[in-house]
Amino acid sequence: MPVERTFFMLKPDAYEKRIVGEIISRLERKGLRIAGMKLKKLSREEAEKLYAVHKGKPFFEELVSFVTRGPVVLMVIEGDSAISVVRNLLGPTDGRKAPPGTIRGDYALSVSENIAHASDSPEAAEYEISLFFDKDELV
Ligand code: RTP
Ligand code: MG
Repeated sequence: MPVERTFFMLKPDAYEKRIVGEIISRLERKGLRIAGMKLKKLSREEAEKLYAVHKGKPFFEELVSFVTRGPVVLMVIEGDSAISVVRNLLGPTDGRKAPPGTIRGDYALSVSENIAHASDSPEAAEYEISLFFDKDELV
């Protein structure tokens, strides 16, 4: 039962809908722990680094302009198998297809504006955490 850390980001649509607290509550209710947290408006450079794997895809420009249009909440979430557990709580990318009970299933009706991001592998988690948090900012 490995304790893992994953990167989680509440996207600008979550902030605009005033559901930041509600989504964070879901993670805490599951038993996950907040190890780091910041409110920030991403620069274009930061967004491009976060989503570097999607550079060149048709939705890349739309994605970068979406995640830079307003504040986001950057978080490091810790717990047993946190990477897969948080992905499962979040649900599939397309909010229209995400099952009820998942975050996207309950709050999103779009494939592009889908409330939150979560790391999809240990390598991604390490990279994404390092983009936004220094070691001494994690508790
Ligand atoms: P995320 O990285 O944000 O956690 O989302 P994900 O793994 O479920 O999906 P991914 O394939 O990594 O896509 C990253 C984000 O790009 C936007 N997107 N738009 N218009 C489209 O077809 C499309 N496809 C993806 C979404 O915001 C998605 O979360
Ligand atoms: Mg992804």
